[in-house]
Amino acid sequence: MTPADEWTVLRLLKWSEDYLARKGVESPRLDVELLLAEALGMKRLELYVRFEHVPAPAERERFKRLLLRRAAREPAAYILGRREFYGISFEVGPGVLVPRPETEHLVDAAVEALKGLERPLAADVGTGCGNVAVALASALPAAVVYAVERSPAALRYAARNVEAAGLKGRVRLLEGDLLAPLPRELLGSLDAVVSNPPYVPEGDEGSLPPEVLAEPREALFAGRDGLDMVRRLVREARPWLKDGGLLAFEVGAGQAPAAAELLRKNGFSGVVARRDYAGIERILSARKDDG
Ligand SMILES: C[S@@+](CC[C@H](N)C(=O)[O-])C[C@H]1O[C@@H](n2cnc3c(N)ncnc32)[C@H](O)[C@@H]1O
Repeated sequence: MTPADEWTVLRLLKWSEDYLARKGVESPRLDVELLLAEALGMKRLELYVRFEHVPAPAERERFKRLLLRRAAREPAAYILGRREFYGISFEVGPGVLVPRPETEHLVDAAVEALKGLERPLAADVGTGCGNVAVALASALPAAVVYAVERSPAALRYAARNVEAAGLKGRVRLLEGDLLAPLPRELLGSLDAVVSNPPYVPEGDEGSLPPEVLAEPREALFAGRDGLDMVRRLVREARPWLKDGGLLAFEVGAGQAPAAAELLRKNGFSGVVARRDYAGIERILSARKDDG
């Protein structure tokens, strides 16, 4: 037994969870576990078998510094420098969007559509840290994915993540606007275009938590109704796709019906809306009509 006033792992967890909750952090327990594990150089689940352990003063000091940053509402993934997506660890930090669990359904939609093909060719528009492109190329060992990003800062993260995944040969990073930087010879030959575009309506800025506002604006906002990028995507993706090729993208809560309509009006059919873990229609996919 340890004396009641010792700062054991369990006591640190409980105290810090309450502290972050008082600061308005949405997932205080998980974040405290991640930060304490980082400060102690162990895996999060190891904390559970070390509740009685008393961290050394230098470890407590390190934890305190991380905790204060989180209390100031810096995103946990920025503090840790990493976020897991599709079972793969990605380097992230200021200047790039933190991958979200719901975007894993976008990868699922593309993998399902492409898995039978011999050498699938795909494009990921707005690749950010490269999470969708890397997940797709990892799940489909013969696929080649062209990953486009406008932000040079985000592209630097993507380059390191592609390299770390050993996928430099099959994930090709391109800087520029939407699909414009793709090699012209790919016109009409892509099996899929996927995208998690910015889709937050500009008027919603005031209701976003500080963690989200710490992420790059160009990764979040897309005009008055949030559909500016989607409108461009459904028009500009079409010529790059094969007949029957897949266009799949993420949308915000309540945007699916309008996005589905845009797909139908722009030469796509067989529209499917997938729901995320919260039951929200989150991923739209459709096939390019012939001709
Ligand atoms: C919502 S984030 C998605 C990042 C990442 N793919 C993910 O799923 O986490 C949108 C990304 O699109 C990029 N972007 C915005 N407008 C763009 C454009 N016109 N062309 C290329 N990329 C763009 C942003 O810089 C940002 O990295």
